[in-house]
Amino acid sequence: MKRNHLYCGLILAMLGVQISASAQKQIDIQTSHSGLVFTVAPNNKLYQSYLGKNIQPATVRTANATAREAYAQGGGSFLFQPAIRMVHTDGSASLDLRVAEYHTTRVNDNNSVTRIVLKDSVYPVTVQLFLSSFYKEDVIKSWAVISHKEKKPVRITNFASSMLNLHADSYWLTQFHGDWAEEMHEEDSKLTSGMKVIDSKLGSRANMYQTPAFLLSLNGPSTETEGELVAGTLAWSGNFQFVFEVDEKNQLNVLSGINPYASDYQLEPNTDFTTPEFIFTYSAKGRGQASRNLHNWARNHGVLNGKGSRYTLLNNWEATQFDFDEQKLSGLFDEARLLGTDLFLLDDGWFANKYPRNDDHAGLGDWQENKKKLPSGLGHLVKEATAKGVKFGIWLEPEMLNPKSELYEKHPNWVLKLQNRPEDYFRNQLVLDIINPEVSEFVYKMVDDMLTKNPGIAYIKWDCNRMMTNAGSPYLGEKQSNLYIDYVRSLYAILDRLRKKYPELPMMLCSGGGGRTDYGGLKYFTEFWPSDNTDPYDRIFIQWGYSYFFPANTIACHVTSWGKQSLKFRTDVAMMGRLGYDIDVARMPENDLKFSQQAVASYKNLSAVIGQGDQYRLVNPNQQQRAAVMYVDSNKSKAVLFAYTLQPRYSTNWTPVKLQGLEAAKLYMVKEINLYPGTQASLPEHNKQYTGEYLMNVGLQVSSANPLTSTVVEITAAP
Ligand code: DGJ
Repeated sequence: MKRNHLYCGLILAMLGVQISASAQKQIDIQTSHSGLVFTVAPNNKLYQSYLGKNIQPATVRTANATAREAYAQGGGSFLFQPAIRMVHTDGSASLDLRVAEYHTTRVNDNNSVTRIVLKDSVYPVTVQLFLSSFYKEDVIKSWAVISHKEKKPVRITNFASSMLNLHADSYWLTQFHGDWAEEMHEEDSKLTSGMKVIDSKLGSRANMYQTPAFLLSLNGPSTETEGELVAGTLAWSGNFQFVFEVDEKNQLNVLSGINPYASDYQLEPNTDFTTPEFIFTYSAKGRGQASRNLHNWARNHGVLNGKGSRYTLLNNWEATQFDFDEQKLSGLFDEARLLGTDLFLLDDGWFANKYPRNDDHAGLGDWQENKKKLPSGLGHLVKEATAKGVKFGIWLEPEMLNPKSELYEKHPNWVLKLQNRPEDYFRNQLVLDIINPEVSEFVYKMVDDMLTKNPGIAYIKWDCNRMMTNAGSPYLGEKQSNLYIDYVRSLYAILDRLRKKYPELPMMLCSGGGGRTDYGGLKYFTEFWPSDNTDPYDRIFIQWGYSYFFPANTIACHVTSWGKQSLKFRTDVAMMGRLGYDIDVARMPENDLKFSQQAVASYKNLSAVIGQGDQYRLVNPNQQQRAAVMYVDSNKSKAVLFAYTLQPRYSTNWTPVKLQGLEAAKLYMVKEINLYPGTQASLPEHNKQYTGEYLMNVGLQVSSANPLTSTVVEITAAP
């Protein structure tokens, strides 16, 4: 830690500054390489005057002191998209926020939280802006708390988590969009004058058509190693909105928060409206550094058990779908053990009796073991798996039901639906109205009872297979426009309760593929399911996209039978994340099994480097018919390189791939691993030693002339 930061932090920690109309004051938020500066003008309006490199002395950074109002308010003199807009009880829709006080608290050597209190000059309205800076990770979290003391509820129509102002010659946005099974299409565009909005209106999930994360490059597109950019993501599992607005002076405002769409919020007096956190990093050294900042922050602060190890597992979904019984499962426990995985994960289809869950038309909501498939119950399965040397995990979809269920028969009013229109099904199911405390108690109890009865359950896959449509909450009555926001808050309240009781239990967040890929959810989950598409060719792009924002140990990647590629290719792609299998092991030819057993063993050896190491994206599959990614441990003594050849044209001349992140002076042994039984290493540099300098400047001949092939290389510093 730099001494000047500590010093600055200590001074600020002691300074709770009450504002009076006098000279302009500066609020300085720093990380090791970035700085964000606000200025309080003599009239106590708040301005954002700097976002960029952490240059010293701090006063240098305030040349543009009153460039743009921070957290701008609607209804006054601000003529662009506001961060906040409120309709008061008298019908006026104006706000005029002035700084009342600000204060920085030093939480520890690495983390300081700045709180800026804004008060309206006429109405009893308070907005507190929070900026939590993580010094060594170069990450800042920003959120707002809105409250009032008017006589009746006010209506807030805009409620951003963050408003950032940037001034550059040009702005280049990288967004990620898609659909089910084709998540994370990466697209770059230059922002032009006016507004560009990226949002979602899916209610129970954030991601599907648009992803709640972006890269914003300044003065030209950034590369992996060069260029200035901001990488940001919203920690919210529901409707989100990013607004990028370039004004007449070519300044850019970036608003990030919950989507205000259909969500005018009725806020009761003396109640806090807390926005979700917007998490961002500024990098002057390209996208790779921005990602490493976010990965470090996530593992240290953002993801449940981010520093812990993960279970390798065998899942039965692709292999059996709904068709299994105790005997089949018992065989699968053996297969999980044979492969060498830590855990068996029982997927959808194990529950419901009156309307058995034999396909996706019935049974959802009736969480009792199906007596025909599992006559001896879950407890027996847990015991049997444990006796066979594997842990047992289970699939749940707690927020949903099929209308064909006992739960629906008993409680037809526990679902989200419009009272005067027909129910609208997606995957034959409806969303439970968890805003209703009775319903959220039911959901909590269902999970809690299951874990209490079966303490051996070692893992949960929490699914959510539909977005909201025709959504109305029977519970909310007249406050229907609170629905989208209150739903996500209720979900987090259930998860909060569960985490208090089960703080360690590993859980995967899944939403019909990659519908929930956000740090709002990952506070409670150890990993997420990025896509139902496990074709390794597509997965290279999908995993590449997520890797901008999430570390490898949070991205669940399974070897399945999707795609026609070799087992080696499928395995080498899945090893880039948290490795699992969802494949019929019993039908594997002997060599496939041998290869997979070796792969699981190698993965276990290397998972600390992959999951905890620094990631370097070396070759972008969107730019070439090949891809390469590597991970390096913190003392640069071990690295793993994954290289994939996609669909090269005849006689493509590949250049060697230059590595990154090694120590130039160190000598490294290069070894190709994950070789299919009976094949030889194809890497010319296999089993030879090279300096880090050589590997980073000359590189390795990892790309092949053959389409859909892959090479995995273990790089170890000589003792
Ligand atoms: C959707 C998930 O993405 C799949 O992995 C599987 O769990 C199914 N749901 C089960 O219904």
